[in-house]
Amino acid sequence: MRTARLTIDSAFAIGAVDRRLFGSFVEHLGRCVYGGIHEPGHPEADPLGLRRDVLALTRELGVSMVRYPGGNFVSGYRWEDGVGPVDDRPRRLDLAWKTIEPNTFGLDEFMAWAAAAQVEPMMAVNLGTRGVQEACDLLEYANHPGGTRLSDLRRAHGAQQPYGIRLWCLGNELDGPWQVGHKTAEEYGRLAAETARAMKLIDPSVSLVACGSSGRGMPTFASWEATVLEHTYEHVDFISAHSYYDPSDGDRASLLASAVDMDQFITEVVATADHVAARLRQTRKLKVSFDEWNVWYQSRVQGDLDGRGWVEAPALLEDDYTAVDAVVVGDLLITLLRHADRVGVAAQAQLANVIAPIRTRTGGPAWRQTIFHPFALTARYARGTVLRTEPVSPTYPTKRYGDVPVLDTVALHDEESGALTVFAVNRGTDDLPLDLDLRGLSGLRPVQHLSLAAGDDPEGVNTEAEPDRVTPRELPTGTVDGDRCAVRLPAISWNLLRFAPLP
Ligand code: AHR
Repeated sequence: MRTARLTIDSAFAIGAVDRRLFGSFVEHLGRCVYGGIHEPGHPEADPLGLRRDVLALTRELGVSMVRYPGGNFVSGYRWEDGVGPVDDRPRRLDLAWKTIEPNTFGLDEFMAWAAAAQVEPMMAVNLGTRGVQEACDLLEYANHPGGTRLSDLRRAHGAQQPYGIRLWCLGNELDGPWQVGHKTAEEYGRLAAETARAMKLIDPSVSLVACGSSGRGMPTFASWEATVLEHTYEHVDFISAHSYYDPSDGDRASLLASAVDMDQFITEVVATADHVAARLRQTRKLKVSFDEWNVWYQSRVQGDLDGRGWVEAPALLEDDYTAVDAVVVGDLLITLLRHADRVGVAAQAQLANVIAPIRTRTGGPAWRQTIFHPFALTARYARGTVLRTEPVSPTYPTKRYGDVPVLDTVALHDEESGALTVFAVNRGTDDLPLDLDLRGLSGLRPVQHLSLAAGDDPEGVNTEAEPDRVTPRELPTGTVDGDRCAVRLPAISWNLLRFAPLP
C-alpha cells in the first residue's frame, strides 16, 4: 500500500486565518429565504417569522458572515421594496429565477436575522438594472446615523442605530450573459469605480468587492479581471471569484480533484490582480473574495425552471448532497485556507435549501446535509496561523486534471493554545497510510481523529427520514514515535486530526 508523508513546521507560516473565510450566502432564490430562514406561522418561528431551528443550525455551522440578497436576484432588485410596513410592500416579478417576489422579507428582517445568527452581513448592491444613486441610497439607509431622509426612514422603521455594514459587493456576476443588466468589462469597470467612489464618500469605512468572473471557464476570464481592476483597483478592497463543481457526469475521480481547479483559479486571479497593481504602481495587495463556491448539480437547473408559471418560493436548486460531495466540500475549504494570505472573504453558496448545508421542509423540520459536517468542523477548529505543508503523495489519474495527488492537506497552529490541527483529504479509493513529521512542533500528542469517509457509502445522503446517515466518525488517533505520527486515512475521506501540547 502506498504511503503519504507530511512535514509540518511552525516556521512555514502562510498567514492568519480570517474568520470571514467561513461565510455563507442567503439569496432570494427558491426556498432559501421563504421556507428556509423565514417562515411565519411555522411552529419554530419567532415573532418576525425567523425559523429558530434554522438559526440554531446556522450557529452550529459556525458561519461567520452572510452575503445577501443575491446572486442573480440582486441584479433586478429594488431594495426599497423590502422595507417599511409589510402589508404595503409590492409583489414583483423576479426575472433572475422567474418567480414572484413577495418582499415580505427585506433588509431590516435580514439584519434582525443576522444579529440572531451572530453573523456579519455582506450586502450586494444592484449594478444590473440600477446604478450609483440607488447604491448610495441603500448605504445611506443602512449606515448613516440619522438626520437625512433615508437614515431617518430606517429609524422610523425601528432601527435607531445605523447597521454599520462593512462589506459590500458592487453587483453580481455582471460578466455573465444570463445576468439581468449584463455588461462588458469596460462598462462594468467604469460603473463599479463610480459607485465605489460615491459609496466611500458616504462611509469611508466600507470594504468593497468588485465583481470578478463568474467562473474560471468563462471566455472572458482574466481579461475581465484585468479591465475591471484597471478602473477600480484604487477604490476596492477585493475582487470576487465564483466556482461550482458539478458531479452530474458521474466522473467521481475528477470531482474529487475539484480543489485542484479552485487552487489554480485563486492563483490566476491573484496573478492578474498583481499584474494590474504593477502597471498602476499600486503597492497595496488586493485580496480575493471567493463569495460563491460549492458543489452544485448545475445540469438539473433547467429542469427546475422549465414548465412552470410565476409562483412564489418554488423548490429550486435543492440538491441532495452525497458523502462524496461532502469530501469535496471539505477539500475546497482546505484550499481556501491554504490561500489565507490572499483570500480574505469566502461564502459557501448557499445556506438553506438552495445548494445548501441546511435543508428544511416547509412546515416541517430542518436537518444537516452531508456537506454541513466538514464546514462546521473546519469553522470550529481552523484557528491561528495557516502553515504550508509539504506533502509527498502518490497520485491518481483524472480525466479533467491529469495526474493529481491522492492527499490534500492544510495545517494550522494556534499559538495561544499550542494546538495543531491538520485537515486532510484522501481522494483515493484505498485507505491511505500517512506519516506526519511534526519536527518543528515537538511535544504534541494526537487527541482526535474525526473522519467523514465516503468509501463504503459514496452515494449516501441525509434526508428528513434519515438525517444522520452520513456523519463524521471517531477513529483511533495515530501512533506516535518521537516527532512522528502515523495515521490511516480511510478511502475517499475528509479528516480532522487534532494535536495538543503534552500536559
Ligand atoms: O448561487 C446560485 C447562483 O449562482 C447565484 O445567484 C449566481 O450569482 C450564481 O450564478
